[in-house]
Amino acid sequence: MQEGDQVRHSTMPQLGFGEIIGVNLDGTFRVRFRTCTCSALLPSSLIGKSVSDYFEEHGIKCLWHITHKHNISSILQYGILNHYDAYRLNKTRFDISDPDVQKLRERVESIYHRKVHDYVPLYLVPRNPMLRVRKDLQHDLCLVEVLFSALSETQWIISDGNAASLGTLFYNSLAAMDHLPWEVLNAGNWSALPDGKRKRCAEVLIYPKVAPNHIGAIHCYSEETLSFLSNCGKDTKMSRNMFF
Ligand SMILES: NC(=O)c1ccc[n+]([C@@H]2O[C@H](COP(=O)([O-])OP(=O)(O)OC[C@H]3O[C@@H](n4cnc5c(N)ncnc54)[C@H](O)[C@@H]3O)[C@@H](O)[C@H]2O)c1
Repeated sequence: MQEGDQVRHSTMPQLGFGEIIGVNLDGTFRVRFRTCTCSALLPSSLIGKSVSDYFEEHGIKCLWHITHKHNISSILQYGILNHYDAYRLNKTRFDISDPDVQKLRERVESIYHRKVHDYVPLYLVPRNPMLRVRKDLQHDLCLVEVLFSALSETQWIISDGNAASLGTLFYNSLAAMDHLPWEVLNAGNWSALPDGKRKRCAEVLIYPKVAPNHIGAIHCYSEETLSFLSNCGKDTKMSRNMFF
C-alpha cells in the first residue's frame, strides 16, 4: 500500500473509498475520505479488507441468532430486536434465555458504553454451549443466518467470549480480530480446551437491531418446525447436523 491507493475504512464502510495521503512513522496510514481524514490503524496487510473478508478467511460465512420458531414471523416483520426493544414492543413470544445469565447482560461494554442488552446478540458459531443447554427445546428452535451486510449499516462490537462473562473483552476494529479465540471457534469440541465454554460463545453485537433484509436462511432441527415455517418467505432448511 502506498500514497494514492484507494482503501475502505474497516469499521465505517459507509465512508466509501478514501485515498492514502501519508504514512505515519508507526506504519499506519492517514486516509482522506470525502467527509473526513483519519488514521487507518490497521497493519497494511489488512487495509482494504472488509470485516466479512476477514471472517470468511476464518471459515465464518455468516452470523447466527438462535431463537424459538414462534418468534420468527415477528422477526421477519420487525427484524431481530435487542432485548429491551423485544420486550418493550412485547414481541417475544418465547424466551429461551436463562434469567440468571440475563442479569449479567446489564453489564456496560467498554467501546460505546452501552449495556450489552442494547445490542442484538449473534454468535460466530451456532453449535455452542447455549444451544447445548437448550437441547431439550431444539425441536422448536431455529438457527437464523444473519448476513454480514448487517454490519455495514450500524455500530457493532465483537467479544472474545460470552459477553456476560467478566473476563470477556470487546473490540470494534478489524485489527483486533486476531484476538478472537479462533482455535476454540474452529474446534470440533470446545469442552476440553482452556476456557473453551466462554470462548466458544464469542459474539457479534449489533446496535440496535438487525433489519429483516439482512436475514438469510433459517435452519431447523425438526420436520415439524420446517413445516411450521413453510410460508415464512425465507429459505428454510433441515440442518440437523448443526444441532446436538
Ligand atoms: N440468541 C442468540 O443467538 C444469542 C447470541 C449470542 C448471545 N446470546 C445470549 O444468550 C442469552 C439468551 O439469548 P436471547 O436471544 O434469548 O436474548 P435476548 O434477551 O436478546 O432476546 C429475547 C428474545 O427476543 C427474541 N426477539 C428478538 N426480536 C424479536 C422480534 N422482532 N419478534 C419476536 N421475538 C424477537 C429473541 O430471538 C430472543 O428469543 C442472552 O443472554 C443473549 O444475550 C444469545
